[in-house]
Amino acid sequence: MAIQVHNLSARPSLLNPMLAELRDVGVQADPMRFRRNLERIGEIFAYEISRVLPYQPRRVTTPLGAIDCPVLAQQPVLATILRAGLPLHQGLLNFFDRADNAFISAYRKHQDDEASFEVEIEYLASPGLDDRTVILCDPMLATGSSMVLAWKALLARGQPRHVHLVSVIASQRGVDRVLEVLPSNTTLWLGVIDPELNSRAYIVPGLGDAGDLAFGLKD
Ligand code: URA
Repeated sequence: MAIQVHNLSARPSLLNPMLAELRDVGVQADPMRFRRNLERIGEIFAYEISRVLPYQPRRVTTPLGAIDCPVLAQQPVLATILRAGLPLHQGLLNFFDRADNAFISAYRKHQDDEASFEVEIEYLASPGLDDRTVILCDPMLATGSSMVLAWKALLARGQPRHVHLVSVIASQRGVDRVLEVLPSNTTLWLGVIDPELNSRAYIVPGLGDAGDLAFGLKD
């Protein structure tokens, strides 16, 4: 079966005004609101993904009786790319509150100029992933390189049963790259797909640099 792509902004919902605030240069002046919107969008993704996961009944005793309640058959592993992924990760974790977690550092190592770079993975902290459901998030899916490299790095910790990739804003090029490289046990969850990348591989219109907007400029 082909990789499924869910574009959540295709339907009207509260996600759309949150995306508008993330993109708005006026609202971006408030980093706490920027982080909080990413977190809230992580919660929306968590709910949507939760609708396709397997459940099993658990007998629950109330003060007045007992009932079989559907609970997750297995806890997922939430994985994120440092540092920009942290608020989105927190939103996913707010809902998948018993999940295990993995962290990967990926950064753009520039060559001589701003336009050419390679993505380098430096750090990976992860539980074993054999037969687990992995939810890997990065707010921006630009060229797709960070996401693909992060996924490859995670495979060193085992073969997941299914991988859900989550991005708030994607470019069509990033989507195409993921569809080209990842296997069919992958699902892509996107807030919105923007048309272009600029010469520095930033998404246009996008929102700018998600890491800087959430956590400040770096050297
Ligand atoms: N990373 C960002 O933060 N923004 C982009 O537009 C692309 C990658």
